[in-house]
Amino acid sequence: MNQDLKGKVAILTGASRGIGKALACTAAGLGINLTLAARGEGPLKETADEIAKKYKVQVLPVSCDVTKLEDLENLVNKTKEKYGKIDILINCAGVSSQFPFQLQPIEDFERLAYTNYLGYVRLIRLVINDMIEQKYGAIINIVSGSTLVDPVPRNFIVYSSLKVGLRAFSKGLFWELRDHGIKVTSILPGVTDTDLTGKLKDITNDTSRLMSTQAIEDAVKFALTVPQNVCPLEISVINQQTPWTAPVIPFKQAHPGK
Ligand SMILES: NC(=O)c1ccc[n+]([C@@H]2O[C@H](COP(=O)([O-])OP(=O)(O)OC[C@H]3O[C@@H](n4cnc5c(N)ncnc54)[C@H](OP(=O)(O)O)[C@@H]3O)[C@@H](O)[C@H]2O)c1
Repeated sequence: MNQDLKGKVAILTGASRGIGKALACTAAGLGINLTLAARGEGPLKETADEIAKKYKVQVLPVSCDVTKLEDLENLVNKTKEKYGKIDILINCAGVSSQFPFQLQPIEDFERLAYTNYLGYVRLIRLVINDMIEQKYGAIINIVSGSTLVDPVPRNFIVYSSLKVGLRAFSKGLFWELRDHGIKVTSILPGVTDTDLTGKLKDITNDTSRLMSTQAIEDAVKFALTVPQNVCPLEISVINQQTPWTAPVIPFKQAHPGK
């Protein structure tokens, strides 16, 4: 481990449960002071209290809907008011849905786009000028292992294609900002045991195939602690036995018309 991150300040979205909560613990374990964001105030406060008690870091819970620009602005302002700076942004808030495209409600497209794509891009835009000014910043975007599948998985094409866009954006952002001392890392997790996958039909029939959050925590720790002149651009941590190929996309899927 090469970088001492004690006293750094991170905003972490989607922090109340699942991967985001696990990453909040990882960051706190590295001595990073945190602003944690999610919509549900109760679980968010519980997570913040739990982390503040366990790790010797400051933790600020801010209720925030990442689909709303004014909430994102408030999140950034509250963080700057408390800590005076933002060094690290971990974008993790996300939603998923599983539909054959022709049955997917049109409003679901907007929910996915505003949360999983614009939620990330807008928040980065709101913190980036401070990072450029301080010549330091680390941005971690939780993308998805589904972006490694081409064509993207059936019944997840809106979710996955937005993640493909996010992955492309993240890589482009790194090339654009690398001379400002800013790192941008995409984490591509496989199918992980969280509430998000628990809601998906079929995928959790065999839960032994699902990953725990541990490998994702290790990947983020690696990204944050490599020497300052190195940037892990993308880290994929994928299931050894993938659930994508079996129940969700049967290898020999009959044409729906037949
Ligand atoms: N689990 C997987 O298999 C998997 C695989 C690849 C990628 N990912 C990605 O990893 C990220 C986290 O997923 P997860 O599995 O940890 O999901 P999760 O357990 O359902 O947690 C999602 C988190 O995001 C928050 N959130 C959702 N919508 C939000 C909004 N509009 N504004 C603010 N916060 C919001 C939730 O809190 P509130 O509901 O209270 O707002 C919660 O804290 C997502 O980007 C997902 O696409 C997950």
